[in-house]
Amino acid sequence: MSRKKIIAGNWKMFKTLSEAELLVAEINNKLLQNLASAEVWIAPPALYLPTLTSQFSGSEIQFGAQDISKHQQGAYTGEISAMMLQSVMAKFTLVGHSERRQYHHEDDVLIGAKIHAALSQSITPVYCCGETLQERNSNNHFVIVEQQITTALANCSAEQVQQIVIAYEPVWAIGTGVTASAEQAQEMHAFIRSILAQKYGASIADTIRILYGGSVKPNNASELFSQPDIDGGLIGGASLVAADFIAIIESAI
Ligand code: PGA
Repeated sequence: MSRKKIIAGNWKMFKTLSEAELLVAEINNKLLQNLASAEVWIAPPALYLPTLTSQFSGSEIQFGAQDISKHQQGAYTGEISAMMLQSVMAKFTLVGHSERRQYHHEDDVLIGAKIHAALSQSITPVYCCGETLQERNSNNHFVIVEQQITTALANCSAEQVQQIVIAYEPVWAIGTGVTASAEQAQEMHAFIRSILAQKYGASIADTIRILYGGSVKPNNASELFSQPDIDGGLIGGASLVAADFIAIIESAI
């Protein structure tokens, strides 16, 4: 099964609007013409989506959000709904990033509801999961990731799960400069695919893209992306530097 790789940038809470426009322009100008074998996704702060999606509407880059509300609409101050994201041409949204889990106490039931909110407006959810250092050191990483996947995707039909992208991001690798080795990442990706295969069948599991995230840099990207079950990356820090992000994209094509 050949799955098209995705290189997704998660900008987190960095950059002003003018800096964001410049960075996207720089990335866009350097993108190879032929991106047939990889997709480039960027999740800027949601505030910038209307400007970036209209300014770069002819570009290969797809834009999305870093989070979404589980609600369709209503009195939820500060929240952004799927319909709002859809109306500014967002193509995807991250859900369940470890920083949302840690600082906003999001759990897999809530994250599961966010996945359905995104799907209701044809926005691709990028479901982030991964264990903490303590969970890995106590050898619980497979159990934890299995729980995360089965809880958040509990109500997803076979048709829905094929519209989801999964990002395995070990918490101990995010923003630390410590990457999972290619073997550790491949082992977990294959495990995630086997969980999906048990529930949905191998042929559906084979179509689902599973990205790796956590300190992906130009010098480790090729090895990670050459693993059979790693279908690209979710890139934080290195996506804020055009040359690094481009080098990472180039290692996926
Ligand atoms: P990092 O972040 O690449 O800076 O480790 C990844 C992420 O948080 O998605």
